[in-house]
Amino acid sequence: MRLLRASIRNFRNLESAELELGPRFTALIGQNGQGKTNTLEALYLIAALRPLRNVPRSALIRHGAESAHVALTVERQSTGLTHALSLELKGASRVLQKDGKKAETGSFLGHAVTVAFTPDDLALGKGSPEGRRRFLDRALLNVRPAYLVRALRFQKAIKERNRVLIDQGKDEVLDAYDQVIASEGAGIMVERARYIRELGPRAASHFARIADPAPTLSLAYAASLDEGLDPSSEAQTREAYLAKLLRRRPLDRKRRTTSVGPHHDDLELMLDGHRVKDRASQGQHRALALALKLAELTDLAERLQEPPILLLDDMSSELDPVRSGQLFDCVRRLEGQVILTSTEPPRGLEASGHLVEYDVAQGQVTRRHP
Ligand SMILES: Nc1ncnc2c1ncn2[C@@H]1O[C@H](COP(=O)(O)OP(=O)(O)O)[C@@H](O)[C@H]1O
Ligand SMILES: [Mg+2]
Repeated sequence: MRLLRASIRNFRNLESAELELGPRFTALIGQNGQGKTNTLEALYLIAALRPLRNVPRSALIRHGAESAHVALTVERQSTGLTHALSLELKGASRVLQKDGKKAETGSFLGHAVTVAFTPDDLALGKGSPEGRRRFLDRALLNVRPAYLVRALRFQKAIKERNRVLIDQGKDEVLDAYDQVIASEGAGIMVERARYIRELGPRAASHFARIADPAPTLSLAYAASLDEGLDPSSEAQTREAYLAKLLRRRPLDRKRRTTSVGPHHDDLELMLDGHRVKDRASQGQHRALALALKLAELTDLAERLQEPPILLLDDMSSELDPVRSGQLFDCVRRLEGQVILTSTEPPRGLEASGHLVEYDVAQGQVTRRHP
């Protein structure tokens, strides 16, 4: 799949930008604070329907503007079809259109499958469980768009259940939420556990190649539903989760929050059997983040049978030359489309053909060599 054109209006500091994306590499070049990441953010938002950086939707609308608009033309190589996607943000609401018709989240996703790699991802091993859950959830929404729909339903139900706990509401109301939470939550846990099992060996082999010396990397799903999570049976997991929600209810009432479920789980990362958090060096943390992203990317390319679109934010300045070289070697082999930001014109990419360059300055995006 390939992004052909993008048009961005009143998004962050971009008043109006038009881009024609190269079939291989497109570089957005500019000093800090000019709008490079904002441009990637617009592309990621319309592709994944999640914000690239963790901010409320309203922060994405340009100060002083009423609404933001992003439009994208995408081509799918396997079918040769093109689709026109558009997204409008207005206040807290979002309107999606596909080929000129209003579209729902589920049918909108999957047309521009995109993986982003940003400086924040380098803290994957060191940072909070929330960051690792976000990694899993973003990877999974690319694998299965229906996953996002379930995750959103789950989040909404948890929020509402917590509100009932705070208000000391009735048991019958909690019973109803527990049903939704157990169904959607079991789906999320099972999908995550399966994905981690498949990603593990792939991540380990990337890590073994990248890190030097390289202890053995292994991944596991650390679930707050310690007993009863059965990756081979969503129905069983659901029953176990429902029972645990009920058992924990008195505690949840006391704490006024839902204490068990996928929103408390973690992706456990281990080197030679020890938790990464406790012992990995700075260099190992970077190698680990890179290995996980490469595993995600190559796994996805295999599932889709075509490479996904890759957005790289500031990677050449965040990674040392050796790691950056390893990243680009893998990216070149995949032969997918890459859109990257950098303060300097990237070197060595012209050789792989079709490098399109844009200058980004004060929210203006201009083609370098038209
Ligand atoms: N909603 C918004 N409206 C207008 N400007 C914004 C908005 N959100 C962020 N900005 C501006 O965008 C700029 C940062 O752009 P960014 O793309 O992160 O820079 P970089 O080129 O370093 O990646 C800052 O100047 C910030 O003030
Ligand atoms: Mg930036």
